[in-house]
This record gives sequence, structure tokens and C-alpha cells, in this order.
Amino acid sequence: MAGLIPRDFIDDLLARTDIVELVDSRVRLKKAGRNYQACCPFHNEKSPSFTVSQDKQFYHCFGCGAHGNAISFLMEYDRLEFPEAIEELARYQGVEVPREQGNSPQQSKEKRQQQENDYELMEKVARFFVHQLKHHSNGSQAIDYLKQRGLSGDIVKQFNIGYAPSDWDAALKTFGRTPALQQQLLDLKVISENEQRRRFDFFRDRIMFPIRDRRGRVVGFGGRVMGDGGPKYLNSPETRIFHKGHELYGFYQARQANRKLERLMIVEGYMDVVALAQFGIDYAVASLGTATTAEHIQLLFRAAPQLVCCYDGDRAGRDAAWRALENALPYLKDGVEMKFLFLPDGEDPDTLVRKLGKEAFEQQLESAVPLSKFFFDSLMSRHHTKSNEGKAALKAEAMPLLASIPECTQKKMLEDQLNEYTLEDKNLRLKREIEEAFQRHKPRQVDNQLLSKHSWTPIRLLLRLLLEEPSLAAKYPELAPSALGKVPISGLDVLQQVHEDCLANPHYKTPHLLERFRGHKIQESLSKLMTMDLPVDDSNPLEDLYRDGFDRLINLYLQTRCDELLAKARLGTISMEEKRELNNLMRDL
Ligand code: UTP
Ligand code: MN
Repeated sequence: MAGLIPRDFIDDLLARTDIVELVDSRVRLKKAGRNYQACCPFHNEKSPSFTVSQDKQFYHCFGCGAHGNAISFLMEYDRLEFPEAIEELARYQGVEVPREQGNSPQQSKEKRQQQENDYELMEKVARFFVHQLKHHSNGSQAIDYLKQRGLSGDIVKQFNIGYAPSDWDAALKTFGRTPALQQQLLDLKVISENEQRRRFDFFRDRIMFPIRDRRGRVVGFGGRVMGDGGPKYLNSPETRIFHKGHELYGFYQARQANRKLERLMIVEGYMDVVALAQFGIDYAVASLGTATTAEHIQLLFRAAPQLVCCYDGDRAGRDAAWRALENALPYLKDGVEMKFLFLPDGEDPDTLVRKLGKEAFEQQLESAVPLSKFFFDSLMSRHHTKSNEGKAALKAEAMPLLASIPECTQKKMLEDQLNEYTLEDKNLRLKREIEEAFQRHKPRQVDNQLLSKHSWTPIRLLLRLLLEEPSLAAKYPELAPSALGKVPISGLDVLQQVHEDCLANPHYKTPHLLERFRGHKIQESLSKLMTMDLPVDDSNPLEDLYRDGFDRLINLYLQTRCDELLAKARLGTISMEEKRELNNLMRDL
């Protein structure tokens, strides 16, 4: 998909969309008070806990916690990636998606037409191979091979496994009736051309595995020889519709087989995916002869909360696992877990699942090595942490890796663990003392009973108010959280960002703000906040709550800053200027 979708367009699309109407087109909604309700489409339930709010243009399920705006709904319900959800929403609104630095509309229309033709042709070719398995004179040989590999007829059908005939031009003759069609076959690498410009089928006398993209369209093939003689697998080269780094064999089937994926497993081979599925492990995918790319990881993390990476137990397998880990770190987030399974010598998932069966294999998955353990085991195997030099070297290797992880609990835990391994005992003790000092100075209890009942910290309250009514920022410009600078108050940085966003975009409404933070580490927390009801009533109008919230934020700031400086004073790292600031603060408090 070429070009970026302009932010303004997305904002505008959201403003035109009524989430109630959109959801109702897929899930029948009933009016319930101010909101609309239905049984949640994202989990099984008997009584409706799925709520759509017209005011907030937001949905939320009290049962399973699913929530988001119109775009999120399409991504989850129609199982689309972000740009696809935008396309879908645009189609729903009857508008074209513009692309920044894109082609002219005419060109992109032609391109889309071309793509649709390509997908159609590839699907026909895949069906042709399936047909040949049953009807070609050599087809029985192919069937025998599949049987000998232990594949059931059902699984062969399910994955549309086929046979490319041994003739030189079976596909060419069937699909290349015109020069234009032959060119398309060449472009899609279904046929090749030699130096004498003779054309012939790319895949011959091979078992064919069609590769589907995440929307189920055939984009390429893998073909296995039946006997010896290499190469063992021949894969479609990259084409205008096939990009190996994006695609995962079996991903489409895994998502089809599971309404909600709890786990995905990444393995090496086509045969592994198919054999695992045959044994009921219908959530395995394979990268296509490439390493696990950052794109794969992103796709997998979005699709399921747990990812198990399966590798050979040897040196090469461990190296591949380490590379996958490095690629995964920038996409770690709370709520996803990555694990590593190293297979015994000489086994691959195909052979192992046949020996162990589903249950025992899944037990192995349960006890796979967590990311943190693999991370430190690998690092510790390279550094001797008995000496200070070793500790320093460990730290030097670990720090840039940790820095690549977005802020999340997993990152903090890895950092803490690294500290345990590398800090000198004296420093460790001091660090703990400081942390405890922070703990003791929790924000003072607010006297407003309403607030304390709902655990509204000043930060949460202000964030929630801004999400509810973005114009508050412009109404009270003197109340600016950015003035507080950097202090260790959890969520202050988020508040600063949201506030700036509200100021810079006075026309923003709630869904725009949430949209700004899609894919951002804080999006989840913001969405959660939206599901909490504000303690607003006649005696507590929005404006009062907002000003009051700032009052309490300032107090919290003074307290925290004071603690911070006191800690510095104890460590002896406080500057003259900071000393003066501390004196002033003590007086203020
Ligand atoms: P394997 O050699 O482990 O294949 O390669 P496999 O899946 O276990 O196949 P069987 O069991 O021998 O039939 C793993 C993956 O590496 C790529 C393919 O994607 C294969 O599934 N590969 C392997 C190639 O692309 N070309 C090759 O020649 C070999
Ligand atoms: Mn194998």
C-alpha cells in the first residue's frame, strides 16, 4: 500500500463516522439509557456487557475489556490492519483514501485493478495445482508422498496443498493464452523465461504450498521436491504482490481457525505448520525461509498475547532466536509475552508433534523459556560477571538493547534485573532506600470523597477531563503541565503530551485524541481511563474539577520534587542551585 494516509484525513473520517451506526451495521445494538448495548462480539456471553457510547464515540465491554474507537472496532471485528481499517471506513463513508506523496488517483486506481487481477490469477493457479493432485497422471505419486509424510486428506484440503506437474508448460498453457496473460504470469513468477526467451513453468514436479497473505489472498508458493535432488524447497521470488518480510505462512489459517488467538507459535517450515495444524495446534506460522523480521513480530504481537518462537537447540538455532529477540524488543508492550522453545537435536515441530501428540507438545510450550531468562542467559554466557570488568561489559551490551524497548513493565523488570547483576552492593542498597522514601510520600489523600472513592489521582483526573473536553486546555492556558518539567510523577509525561495536543488542535474531540496515540504505549491506559465515569455533578462541574485537579497536581509536584532533591542531597550529587530550590520548596511545603 503506497504512501502515508494523511492525519487530517483520518481525523475527518472519524468526525464523519458515527460509531453507533458503524457497530450496528455488524452487531445489532439496543438503546440502553444514554448508550447502546449488545452481547459482546469479542467474547462469549449471555447478557450484554458491550456498550457503545454515542457521546464519546467509543465502545467498551465490561466483560472482556475490549474497547476503542471506530477504527479499533473495524480492526478487531473485521480483523484488519490499521490501513485496511481506514480503507474500510472510507468505503463505508463513500470517500477515497488519499495518499501522501502517492500516485495520481488514476494511477492508483489502475494499480488496484492490477492487484485484483493478480490475486485472482494466483488463486486460479493455486486451484489448478490442487486439481492436478487428483487428475494429473503423476498426481497419485504426489498423493503417495503426502500420505507417506503422514498428512491427512483433510489437512491437505484445508491448506490447499497441490501438485505442480512435471510438464514444462502445464501452467503456461492453461493460463497464458495471450501475450498479456503470459506477461502477468512472468511478473508473478508463475513462469520463467530463459536466455533464449523460451518460457516454461517455474514450479515443476513439486508439492505446492500456496502462501496466503493476512487477508487470505494467494500471493506466492512454496514447492517441495518429492525425492532427493535440490533445492528441497523452491519459493516464489518477490513480486509486486509478494514480500517475504511481510508474510507468514499459516497466519491466515491460524486466524480463521481461532476467533480469538491466545497464542501464536512461529516455526521454520511449511511442513511444520501443516503437521501441527493436523494435530490440533492450529496457531503455528512460518516465516518464508527468512529470519523473523521486525514486521513479523509486530504482526504477531498484534494478533495474540503470547508468542512462542520455536528453534533448533543448536548454535544456529540459538543465534536465530537471539536475532528474533533483538527484532522484538522495540515492540514489547505490556500484555504480550514472548517465549522461546528449543527443540531436541534432530527434531523439528513436525516430527515432535507426531511423537508427543497435542497435549504433551503444548506442555512443552507452557514451559518454554521466557524472554527475560533467554535474554540474561545469553548475555551471561558471554560475560563473566564475577569481576567489575565483566559487569561493565555486560552492562555495555545490555544497555542499548534495553534502550530499544518502549516504556513498559517488562522493560522495568529487565532493567531491575540488570541492576541486580551489575550494581555494586552499596549502590544497590542506596537505590532501594531511595525507592522506599518515594513510596512513603504517596500523594496526600484528597478530601473530596467522590474522588478518593474512584481512586482519581490528579494525573488521571486531568487526563480524563481533557479527553472528555479537550477545549479545557485552551480555556485555562495558564494551567500548563509542561511548566512542571521532568519529575518522576507517573503519567505526568502523558498528561503533558495530551495537553499539548489539545492546545495545538482546538477542534479535537475525544476520538481524535485517542487516535493520536494509536500504537503508542499510552494508548491502552487512555482508553481505560475513558471507561471510568467522571465524578461530575451539579456541585462538581467540569471546570471546577479541572482547576481543582491542577491544584492537587501542583502539591504532588512540590512533594515529589522535594523528595527527589532530598535524595540527591543524601547521595551528595546535589548542585548549589538545586540546594536553593530545595530550601524554597521546604519553605513552601
Ligand atoms: P527445513 O529443511 O527444515 O524444511 O526448512 P521442513 O519444513 O522441515 O521440510 P521437510 O520436513 O523436510 O519437508 C525449513 C524452511 O526453510 C525453507 C522453507 O521455507 C522450509 O519450510 N527452505 C528450506 C527453503 O526455502 N529452501 C530449501 O531448500 C530448504
Ligand atoms: Mn521437517
